Amino acid sequence: MPDRQLYRPTRAEISLAALKRNLERVAAFAGPARVLFVVKADAYGHGVVPLALYCQEERLCHSFGVACLEEGLELRAAGVKLPLLVLGSLYPFNSFMEAIKNDLTVTISSIDAARQVLEAARLAGKKASCHIKVETGMNRIGARRPSAVKIFQELSGQAEVSVEGVYTHLSSADTDPEYTAQQLAYFRETLTELGRTGARDLVRHAANSYAAVHLPDSRWDMVRTGIAAYGNMDGFEPILSLKTRVVFIKNVREGASVSYNRSFRASSPMKIATVPIGYGDGYLRALSGKAEMLVGGRRCRVLGNVTMDMVMLDVTAVERVSVGDEVVAIGRQGAENVTAEELAGLAGTIPYEITTLLTRRVPRAHV
Ligand SMILES: Cc1ncc(COP(=O)(O)O)c(C=O)c1O
Repeated sequence: MPDRQLYRPTRAEISLAALKRNLERVAAFAGPARVLFVVKADAYGHGVVPLALYCQEERLCHSFGVACLEEGLELRAAGVKLPLLVLGSLYPFNSFMEAIKNDLTVTISSIDAARQVLEAARLAGKKASCHIKVETGMNRIGARRPSAVKIFQELSGQAEVSVEGVYTHLSSADTDPEYTAQQLAYFRETLTELGRTGARDLVRHAANSYAAVHLPDSRWDMVRTGIAAYGNMDGFEPILSLKTRVVFIKNVREGASVSYNRSFRASSPMKIATVPIGYGDGYLRALSGKAEMLVGGRRCRVLGNVTMDMVMLDVTAVERVSVGDEVVAIGRQGAENVTAEELAGLAGTIPYEITTLLTRRVPRAHV
């Protein structure tokens, strides 16, 4: 929670206890493989520093995965001591220097990057640790088998660099078992080839959350989990609730129009509640007229367009609604539950985006 006084009632509550249960569950599936917790993009919008410090304190993971140098530096500055793997491709050259100085493990996906990390380590006067990324079918970053072997050969004899791991990323673990099997087979053969080249004791990893839970063959020595830890995957508990309060109530007549462009028209008299959350908070405009929020334990439809700072809800069926009543945009209230998956389905996106796009205006309260 930021240490400023909060007046506006809109906020995201993040349950650390639920995060703990989720990470323990992933570990129970993955064990003895270690768990790397993917906390890139501000922990998928959940607020990275409190989460990472909590996991470190409670020993809930072996390491963290970040996307870029800046995310790693933020965690180091906040006191995170656990290993940090930068999953992205570092550029420009001086990023390697900064990564090495701050004990960030870098991903090497090309011969060129291998040479750069070596040179950076020499200049920094400090040993660089790296993982080689193997391209098996995502076609984002990674080296095909011959290049991966060359990278290993280039780096393995060098005192300034320690090749600690080798990994790949599955493009369709939850949707395409056949393609996933091909990716895993290519990775397995690459590991064998690296073994022939002299690679020993590398940390081998391929699994994202879905694979960690459902595909034992993908686990090797470590799994990289994001979405399961945040609870937006079947069998896990969502850790984020998005809450606000009613700030205004009105009754409208039949025929009244609501929101921009008269995007909703009342076909009968209605009671409408206005709540202070909008696309300026990351509550997507694509949810206009489709999503529901919870008020008084009931589902209430968003009427018309989501505006930048407010939405209007149909609270006609809610008895005794008052200004100040709690509104849940994501999470539970009474027997009802709105999930990030549900909103993602309505907005034509994925739950990752629903939480990651919550903006800086929404304070994250870690409870
Ligand atoms: C390289 C890499 N590994 C692991 C993950 C974690 O995936 P998930 O959140 O599906 O567990 C991601 C997320 O996008 C990723 O980019």
